[in-house]
Amino acid sequence: MIKNIGYIILILFGAACSSEKEDYIPIDQNPKLEFTVPSNFPEPSYNVSLNPPTEKGFELGKKLFYDGRLSSDGVISCGFCHIQDFAFTHHTHIVSHGVDGALGTRNAQPLHNLAFMNEFTWDGAAIHLDLQPIIPITAEVEMNESFGNIIKKLEEQPEYVTLFAEAFEDQKINSENILKALAQFTIMMISSNSKYDKIERNEGSVFTPDEAAGFELFTSKCASCHSGTLFTDQSYRNNGLAVDPQYNDIGRNRVTGLASDLYKFKVPNLRNIELTFPYMHDGRLKTLKDVLDHYSDGMVDSETLDPMFKNSEGMVTGIPLAEEEKQQIISFLKTLTDDDFVNDHRFSEF
Ligand code: HEC
Ligand code: HEC
Repeated sequence: MIKNIGYIILILFGAACSSEKEDYIPIDQNPKLEFTVPSNFPEPSYNVSLNPPTEKGFELGKKLFYDGRLSSDGVISCGFCHIQDFAFTHHTHIVSHGVDGALGTRNAQPLHNLAFMNEFTWDGAAIHLDLQPIIPITAEVEMNESFGNIIKKLEEQPEYVTLFAEAFEDQKINSENILKALAQFTIMMISSNSKYDKIERNEGSVFTPDEAAGFELFTSKCASCHSGTLFTDQSYRNNGLAVDPQYNDIGRNRVTGLASDLYKFKVPNLRNIELTFPYMHDGRLKTLKDVLDHYSDGMVDSETLDPMFKNSEGMVTGIPLAEEEKQQIISFLKTLTDDDFVNDHRFSEF
């Protein structure tokens, strides 16, 4: 509607006085936001042209992200489990907890650089970012709500009626637009300003000797899976965690049904890893030192354990590391912390 008014004004103006046309600044009530790919990043997987972020779409997506109305008890928003200070993870929560304190079985993942990912969640159950929020919104142990109810609740809020009308041409409050707005917000969450990035882009930073030694160790021992500038090859692997009988989480097998995918989980990206503790799909490891101890001494053999962690005789070797080497790797991992990102007010609730 507002766009149409702009259009009409443009026509009237143009017809009335064509010589002034060049001075005319088009009235666009909802400017597009620039989606900028950092120079050290690959092309995004998300097709931004199909859902280009706009000022109003982003604002709406952010409002929805922080709104408890998306859950059945009115309390659990996306932002409840995804807290910016901790790179949008659920700080201190081993597994997530949703409406009425219901416990999930997995550790909330960080939200950053989502536009560059092909599949989502620990087992890849969501194959498109636009569809991912359907899982938490409808899961009994997360938000336990239906789109029908959410739409009713939003329609009662004049602020939402206006925002949807401004953000989308069809002006509708429907599930498609809710999901599109959420994606416009989440694809803009790019973390690319860590010390590591500044070094990669030759912006004047340098590694300390420990960080440099850690980077070298990481490159030779970890980067085959945590690869590239996104720190994940986006594959599903078994890194030797013992099966927790409490959850018996079968991982990727849940999606594919293949025996070869039992207990495999998505290789997580390691950006902001200093902030996203506890670690692993069920949050079982508290510290980065615990993670390194797992790789050096904690691995459990199984049918699907990644062959990288075994020697030619099939014995489990893990990744042997001396204490000093572990500390160096941790020093390097801390260079992936992006303070600009966690303090970026564009993504903050207030
Ligand atoms: C109750 C806590 C909780 C709530 C509420 C919640 N999430 Fe999550 N989120 C999680 C957990 C746990 C995972 C990992 C899920 C899995 O692997 O099955 C996750 C995963 C994700 C992922 C996948 C990240 C990746 O790298 O693959 C995205 C995106 C996401 N959530 C966005 C959202 C949005 C948007 C909302 C609101 C509509 C939301 N979440 C609400 C806990 C939550
Ligand atoms: C064979 C592939 C592979 C290699 C090699 C590997 N990882 Fe991992 N890493 C994984 C997978 C898969 C997970 C997730 C496992 C899970 O939660 O079930 C993971 C999880 C992690 C986590 C926890 C991340 C989070 O968000 O909870 C950290 C930290 C980590 N790895 C660091 C390292 C370091 C450091 C090295 C080298 C010493 C390394 N990894 C080597 C596959 C690998």
